[in-house]
Amino acid sequence: MTLAPHLSPARRTGSGPATSSASGVAGANDFRPAPLILLTPGPLTTSERTRAAATFDLGSWDAPFAALTAEVCDRLTAILGQGSDSFVCVPLQGSGTFAVEATVRTFVPVGSGLVVLSNGAYGERVAAIGRAAGRSVALYRGAWDRPIDPAAVRSRLADLPPSYGHVAVVHCETSTGVLNPLEPIADLVEQSGRSLLVDAMSSFGALDLPAWRPGLTAVVAASGKCLEGLPGLGFVLARRQALADASGQCDSLALDLADQQAYLERTGQWRFTPPVQVLAALAQALIEHAAEGGRVGRLARYQANSEVLAAGLAGLGLRPYLPADCQAPIIHTFYPPDHPAWDFDRFYHQVRRRGFVLYPGKLTEVETFRVGCIGQVDPAVMRRAVAAIGEALRELGCPASAPPERD
Ligand SMILES: Cc1ncc(COP(=O)(O)O)c(C=O)c1O
Repeated sequence: MTLAPHLSPARRTGSGPATSSASGVAGANDFRPAPLILLTPGPLTTSERTRAAATFDLGSWDAPFAALTAEVCDRLTAILGQGSDSFVCVPLQGSGTFAVEATVRTFVPVGSGLVVLSNGAYGERVAAIGRAAGRSVALYRGAWDRPIDPAAVRSRLADLPPSYGHVAVVHCETSTGVLNPLEPIADLVEQSGRSLLVDAMSSFGALDLPAWRPGLTAVVAASGKCLEGLPGLGFVLARRQALADASGQCDSLALDLADQQAYLERTGQWRFTPPVQVLAALAQALIEHAAEGGRVGRLARYQANSEVLAAGLAGLGLRPYLPADCQAPIIHTFYPPDHPAWDFDRFYHQVRRRGFVLYPGKLTEVETFRVGCIGQVDPAVMRRAVAAIGEALRELGCPASAPPERD
């Protein structure tokens, strides 16, 4: 893999300031942020070629753009792998949440119910979307540091009337990094006569999705996560038949996936102004995804990144929030050191000075912070990130210590 030049060790040594000013803005007429490595759930560090693909003006009604849209959709569908031939890709303007809301409003008919299996902030968000859309939401809440338990899902589904015809789950809960078991969940959903909607925002392109399981009806993802494109475009891979059946029932104009798809198929055009540069960058990112060996190749790199990160931070005495057996190789959550000198803001800025951007935790009851292992980063970059985190802790006066035992 060729990393973007700004990630090369020569220019990012792991020490010294990364930017000459706090914002990195070079001058009044020239917005030029300092290069930083984003170890976050997205936006992510992208390749120079992917960013360069977004530097062209493109006409949205121009035939080449229609061809580019079709090619991107074909590539996204193919990434689903076995079973993908019964799916169709519907691109949608906006961030991932827009695509999740479009999925709920398109597939779950007004007046019917949605079961949400939640073990994190993004599961809670799906429930909030369902409620905001006026659907009846039956919320099953699991522990945030454990995968959703299929046995509990079975009994929850058995208790609900058939009017709760759809079930939603998040594949990788990015708020913690926990991986949910999609295959047994898809099977249980199907056996109960329902359809499964999956938020695969932070897993699509790296983790396997069981498209061959008939229960799986729609998969929602976005350009700026494991595909390593720029943010701003969501997409939904939907079973063609289910999407046709949902035609005319969406209670939103802009978020109607069935209409978006029908219009695209009929005209080759998007219904409303598409994010042309984001799509062009995604086309380049998909070429790089394929060159890396597709989903399997990408997962191998993320897995290696994840191992360097987990071992490195354990060596610094930082305790992970999740047990290793349910940790996805996407993003890790850590408890801060149990030390009076700890201060997240100071830590964040010390790490940032060394060229790496981390993410605050998303847990409401305990303080944590998160470190992503996705994007154009490899194990060498992760080792430098671990070194930067160690230096930042020492500068803060939080010495390395043996990690406390899990509860
Ligand atoms: C699992 C999951 N769902 C939904 C979202 C929301 O996406 P966005 O912030 O792009 O709207 C995210 C964002 O990180 C996510 O990780």
